[in-house]
Amino acid sequence: MPYFHYRELDELRADIAARGHVIPLDGDFAPLAAPARIGERVAANRLAVHPMEGCDGNADGTPGELTRRRWRRFAEGGAALLWGEATAVVPEGRANPRQLLISRGTAPALRSMLEETRAARRARFGTDAGFIVGLQLTHSGRWSHAAPVVAQRAPPIDAVRGAGAALIADAELERLADAFADAAVLARDAGFDFVDIKQCHTYLLNELLASHTREGAYGGTFAQRTRFVREVFAKVAARAPGIALATRLNMYDGVPFRPDGDGAAPTAFDTPYRYGWGAAPGDPLTPDLAEPVRLVGELRALGLGLVNLTMGSPYFNPHVGRPFERPPVDGYAPPEHPLVGVERHLALAGTMQRAHPDLPMIGTGYSWLRQFALHAGAANVAAGGISIVGLGRGALAYPDFAVDGLERGALDANRACIGVSYCTALMRAKHNDLGQYPTGCVPRDRVYAPLLREARRTEGWR
Ligand SMILES: Cc1cc2nc3c(=O)[nH]c(=O)nc-3n(C[C@H](O)[C@H](O)[C@H](O)COP(=O)(O)O)c2cc1C
Repeated sequence: MPYFHYRELDELRADIAARGHVIPLDGDFAPLAAPARIGERVAANRLAVHPMEGCDGNADGTPGELTRRRWRRFAEGGAALLWGEATAVVPEGRANPRQLLISRGTAPALRSMLEETRAARRARFGTDAGFIVGLQLTHSGRWSHAAPVVAQRAPPIDAVRGAGAALIADAELERLADAFADAAVLARDAGFDFVDIKQCHTYLLNELLASHTREGAYGGTFAQRTRFVREVFAKVAARAPGIALATRLNMYDGVPFRPDGDGAAPTAFDTPYRYGWGAAPGDPLTPDLAEPVRLVGELRALGLGLVNLTMGSPYFNPHVGRPFERPPVDGYAPPEHPLVGVERHLALAGTMQRAHPDLPMIGTGYSWLRQFALHAGAANVAAGGISIVGLGRGALAYPDFAVDGLERGALDANRACIGVSYCTALMRAKHNDLGQYPTGCVPRDRVYAPLLREARRTEGWR
């Protein structure tokens, strides 16, 4: 039986109760229609599109036609917040050769895409008031495709990737902080409302937070592991006044998993575990939010005004970040019922939000709930467990989810994400002229099924 087999809300409710989970669901979406204050700005509703890379930029880091199409579709879909995807601040920090790059050379193209995105919003709704668009600034660290670097040697993670990667030097980090500040200035001047200093999914800034064994100024104690991001925030605030400061933050990294029998199991690790952020050192399978809560407090003092909460690594424990029905090609069958993952997301986000009740936070992990995603979102917003509800895969599949939810009071089951991980598979496909296939929703968007067929052939997938 598939994990997701619910036609009616009550069937889902009954299964949640039978499994002993706490995932409230509410059919009244009014809480999602309320505006949300984000610093000086006001978002028209409480729905967001998460950053979703299409791996469809041009070789020079400018957006491609599919990038522009995706952003237009998100704008037309009605979510108040469009969280622009991973955009490298230096060429060597790109995760793939088609990832967006922000530089003096690419900024005009980013600006024109943003203008086109806002124009699409106005054409659909008559206004772009209350539509807030940001850009995620990143360095991919050990997952960079051309010149990977690690923040620390981490044997369980080096075994997945990065064993041969150089340890990034303190002096390089100092230069990189300036690159983030330069990027923020360019993003502000291009018209973005906010920049996200990305600290998630085990990319470089996330890995620094976990670098207990790194020596020097940027590793070891909490103060040293968080020094780099605090320096970046201070530089961005000083050099790019006017742009709102956001961060997409891992609440919890977890440990690498590997296929095991019909599912998956954690790879071997020693305790105290020295390679995970938000993970209890004595038992890294258990989240410990003390440090993430503290970091958010410290970044608020430096101007942080918006947080997007997430967790896990798409490369070594994908079930943690994106509860799925079927695994991606490089993944494994879920080691837990996806409802366990959904509940973990919602519970941890609730703890973070309640620790900082007046700071707008966006929650993740809703897409597996398909047409009932907004039922969970509405209940969480009403209960103060989150300020804004975001969809990632759910938005790729169904860009109009917000307008349908808010205007019709229901989502269409036939348009919802079905969690079969083809989008992740396309991200992993590299054997074409550009060294990277574009990605999107294979079951729901006619553009991508032919691409998956071709990728199956070139990658040799059965
Ligand atoms: C194809 C694809 C691209 C993604 N791109 C990004 C990205 O650029 N930045 C980021 O922070 N997360 C990215 N993610 C993760 C999603 O934003 C989101 O955290 C994840 O899919 C779980 O949310 P969901 O259950 O709503 O899909 C990506 C995920 C997928 C499947």
